Order: sequence, then C-alpha cells, then structure tokens
Amino acid sequence: MLNDIESVLVSEKEIDEICTRIANSINADYKDSGKKLVLICILKGSLAFTCELMKKITLPVEIDFMKVSSYGSKTVSSGVINIHLDIKRDDMEDVDFIIIEDIVDSGRTLSHLVRYLKERGANSVRTCTMLDKPDRRKVEFVPDYSGKVIPDKFVVGFGLDYDEKYRNLPFVGILKPEVWGGQ
Ligand code: IMP
Ligand code: MG
Repeated sequence: MLNDIESVLVSEKEIDEICTRIANSINADYKDSGKKLVLICILKGSLAFTCELMKKITLPVEIDFMKVSSYGSKTVSSGVINIHLDIKRDDMEDVDFIIIEDIVDSGRTLSHLVRYLKERGANSVRTCTMLDKPDRRKVEFVPDYSGKVIPDKFVVGFGLDYDEKYRNLPFVGILKPEVWGGQ
C-alpha cells in the first residue's frame, strides 16, 4: 500500500491537531444552543474523521449516518447525488446537525445535503470537512468548519479511498498518478 503513495500530505499528528481545533470550535459554538446536537457521518469516507472528532467533543452529542454517492467514475464526479442511506427522525426541528465529510471537491454533495436537511425542517445545519479542495468547486460552497485546504491532487487514507482501498492508512497521502491512471 505504501508503495502507491507519492507523499504524505496530512500526517497523523496534523490530523489530531485538526480534530482538536475543530472540536474546540464546536464545543464553544453549541455550548448554549438548547437543541440536540447530531453529527452526521457521511459513509464511508468520513468514518475515521468522525471517530476522532467526536472523542474531542465535550457536549452531549448523537451520531447518525448517511450514505451518499456523487461519483460516476472512480475519480471524476458525475454531478448526481444519490442517497443510499438516510436518517430517520421525527424531531428535526429540535436538532442542530453538523454534517461531517472527509473532503469537499465539487461541493455538490454537501450543498445538496444542507438543502435537503433544511427542507426536512432541521433547526440548523452546518458542515465540517477534514479536507477542502476549493480549486475544484463546481458549485459555490464554503464549509463551516474546515481542517485543511489542499491542492488539486487525488488523495487517499484516513477514510479516503481509491476503488475502496487505502481507507485504513493512518495519514492522508497523495496517490501516485500511475495508480489511478491520471497525471
Ligand atoms: P463533491 O460532491 O464533489 O464535493 O464530492 C466529495 C466526495 O468526493 C468526497 O466525499 C469523496 O468521497 C470524493 N472525493 C473527492 N476528492 C477525493 C480525493 O482526492 N480522494 C478520494 N475521494 C475524493
Ligand atoms: Mg466519499
């Protein structure tokens, strides 16, 4: 697996620092909200990030899951968002949601999900991403909490995959282009 990695982009130490910084902001922002705080982990990519982040949140918090896909091929977004697993709740107006993503690329997934949860009556919806590739935006979108802005490279590890592999790497690395057939 390590032979397929060109270089480490975000080390384990830096990921830990990102989680601490974002959790501290969330702890301060939702301290007096008076609503239920719910993190939505977007499967499968944000599993690792959600785990690390939630351990550093000191407020009462619920965890829920959604599974969506936007990718037509392995590395290029199709622009169509499919919801494969949805949340089921009848208390939407009592909930402050934070959607947790591994990476924002075109911005389509998160902008679609924010609109979707607001339409379903959520009290509030914010977004949190470990990584952000703003150069790749197709729709206007700015995450509320962002770990690190990265260049337009295909990255894997700490939840992020290529063809379902590399999610278990403990760091985020740039995948060698010859592995995915790009330049
Ligand atoms: P968006 O809707 O284009 O912002 O899609 C974001 C999703 O694309 C993420 O949840 C990832 O699953 C996937 N993605 C985007 N860039 C990368 C990458 O560099 N490596 C792995 N997955 C990526
Ligand atoms: Mg994903």
